[in-house]
Amino acid sequence: SIVLLCFFSLLLFFFTRVRRPKNFPPGPRPLPILGNLLQLDPVNPLKDLERLKRRYGNVFSLYIGSRPAVVLNGLEVVREALVTHAEEYAGRPTHLLISHLFESKGIVLANYGSSWRDHRRFALTTLRKFGLGKRSMEERILEEVSHICTELESSAGGSMDPQHLFHLTASNIICSLIFGERFEYDDPVILTLIQRLEELTKEAFGPWAMLYEIIPVLRPFPLPFRNILHKFNQMKEHIKKIVTKHKSSRVVGEPRDLLDCYLDQIDKTANGGSTFNDTHMVFLLLDLFMAGTDTTSNTLRSAVLHLMTNHVFVPDRCYREITNILEGRADASFEDRHAMPYVQAMIHEVQRMSDTVPLGVFHTTCSDTQLHSYQLPQGTMVIPNLSSVLHEEGQWKFPHEFNPENFLNEVGEFVKPEAFLPFSAGSRVCLGEGLARMELFLVLVTLLRRFRFVWPEDGGVPDFSLIFGGTQSQKPFRLGVHLRSSERG
Ligand code: HEM
Repeated sequence: SIVLLCFFSLLLFFFTRVRRPKNFPPGPRPLPILGNLLQLDPVNPLKDLERLKRRYGNVFSLYIGSRPAVVLNGLEVVREALVTHAEEYAGRPTHLLISHLFESKGIVLANYGSSWRDHRRFALTTLRKFGLGKRSMEERILEEVSHICTELESSAGGSMDPQHLFHLTASNIICSLIFGERFEYDDPVILTLIQRLEELTKEAFGPWAMLYEIIPVLRPFPLPFRNILHKFNQMKEHIKKIVTKHKSSRVVGEPRDLLDCYLDQIDKTANGGSTFNDTHMVFLLLDLFMAGTDTTSNTLRSAVLHLMTNHVFVPDRCYREITNILEGRADASFEDRHAMPYVQAMIHEVQRMSDTVPLGVFHTTCSDTQLHSYQLPQGTMVIPNLSSVLHEEGQWKFPHEFNPENFLNEVGEFVKPEAFLPFSAGSRVCLGEGLARMELFLVLVTLLRRFRFVWPEDGGVPDFSLIFGGTQSQKPFRLGVHLRSSERG
């Protein structure tokens, strides 16, 4: 029986053995079934990816289970793939748990094709329209900023945990654009949506999601990944309720928000075999809500952490620039950024260091293609390591430390190095880049003008290490809040 066991083990090893295709990028030897998963730290694989980059070069491959993935590192390689050969790299994987949840609908996880193209174009033009319309994007952001200020004022002289507040801020801004309304900070609809989003982003990239992907035979069993599906469906139901309520108050031809515009679009294209319909609409709304919340709120948290700790001179220099430019005016406008080079440099540096989406969103190749001397067959999963670009030696004056000088030239003018790619690049570049940049600028300028943030006495030692995930975030911390006006008094 031992001989038989050895024989079957050998057979199993032989048939599940993973072999790289010819001319495929090099990488560590994969194990059957698991691939290279054991060689990556599940809590934070970025250091392991850095180690593999040093060993195999800027283009290497890994096996996630039995599927190969090519990791792109450094500006030159990421740009060559995503920008120079944009169309060839514009696909999305369809086998991941998160792809199954989205059924290739919406935008973020939709595969390259007409539905993705139609929805991306629609969302971009509609967001732009609200940027120019009666209630501009800027007004909606400033309205939300006034609510954050009120909340922070209630903590003046003390400290608070900013996580929840910044989450509500970011989600309210996107809700105002897509649903035409902001929610009170204790509204059960927004609180449930945010809670589900937090759980989902944690679990959809956790070990159970990994098992779902690498051992498909487990999928029908009642294991914890069922939980993820359940939570996602709850979010969908919530969005559907908002849509139903919205439809009843809608006036055709007078859109108040992106949702109304989508309904108009369904009416306009009803007979033309179009991709606009109720199902796609729910996924698009979910996409925008999910993509626009965590990313911006994590960046804001990172900003206040950096500003209140070891860089006291940075907020003071920003404050002088802001008060100088805004003298006598109630609010900042996004146009003011051109007159505030130091503030611009600070915000870009925050984005570089907060490294919010470290491995981007995974791509796939849409046709057989070549990268350097390697062959990548159609359907190869591609991981753009944006983190490697944001900290690449040779691209930055101070690649590994927080320093706004990374974005200033010798005469103090703002300059944006090409390696600034937190929003990725190419045909799938972040659709919300304009909105996110406007949010970060208006929120931070208003807060810095009104408050001074200090590390609370009982705050312990500041910890800048990031919690890895689909979006990366700072560990929880408390924010010490001082009112500038009371200090002057
Ligand atoms: C995609 C980063 C805010 C909507 C992406 C990608 C990154 C990214 C790295 C992947 C691009 C690729 O596949 O190569 C960020 C960061 C943000 C931010 C760092 C904030 C600081 C937003 C906001 C929205 C948004 C506010 C809401 C409108 C999207 C969408 C996509 C996307 C819809 C998918 C684009 C596509 O697949 O065609 N974002 N994002 N993002 N983002 Fe953002």
